[in-house]
Amino acid sequence: MVDELVKRSPGRGRFVSFEGGEGSGKSTQIKRLAERLNAARLPNIVTREPGGSVGAEIMRHLVLSGMGKLLGPDAETLLFAAARDDHVKHVIGPALAQGTWVLCDRFADSTRAYQGKLGNVSPTLLKAMQRVTIGDLKPDLTFILDVPAEVGLKRAAHRRGAGAPDRFESEDLRYHEKLREAYRQIAAEDPQRCVVIDTTADPDSVAARIWTELRSHLFSVSTSAAPA
Ligand code: TYD
Repeated sequence: MVDELVKRSPGRGRFVSFEGGEGSGKSTQIKRLAERLNAARLPNIVTREPGGSVGAEIMRHLVLSGMGKLLGPDAETLLFAAARDDHVKHVIGPALAQGTWVLCDRFADSTRAYQGKLGNVSPTLLKAMQRVTIGDLKPDLTFILDVPAEVGLKRAAHRRGAGAPDRFESEDLRYHEKLREAYRQIAAEDPQRCVVIDTTADPDSVAARIWTELRSHLFSVSTSAAPA
């Protein structure tokens, strides 16, 4: 089975992004998927946005500290775009070109959801930035991890412990409910690329579902033949 997967994956690496609201389980599930790919001997990297490259990590610090919010929605969006530009140029693009899979914790859909659908940044600005930063690059597959906002916020608070919530975690429940809806809309707009995954179940079942969907989407393996 493992060799069969490798045979079906020649040339360019595959690009898989994970999206979702706070506490939706992205980091746990990315780690689990990387373990599966390692077992299948498919070279992969795990990266994240904002961040993932030296320049982008500097911008990550700026936006999550709340500095971007002070500058206003357009400038904050430009900071995310600048971070993405650096990340694509220095990490994502080169990895895909050399046949390495890229598992990315958030990508352009985060800008569409947070800055576009929730932040009301104009579609014209978003489109222009997208053209400059990623051009035609888009994930081969995007998992949208879906959990009720209240559950996700509780998980995020638990994970954070005594630490202060960041710029987006500190928005209210209504904001996070709207965010969930925004992601569902994004998935409905691009059903070929996006798969919504309910993450209220235990992490093992969620990981199994993600693996099944990945095999079905990227290797055309019938879902009934996928491992448990
Ligand atoms: P992070 O600590 O990585 O949060 P999470 O664990 O939820 O991924 O913080 C990233 C935050 O930045 C997150 O709240 C979403 C936000 N964000 C945007 O608003 N726009 C973007 O384009 C990206 C990539 C992230």
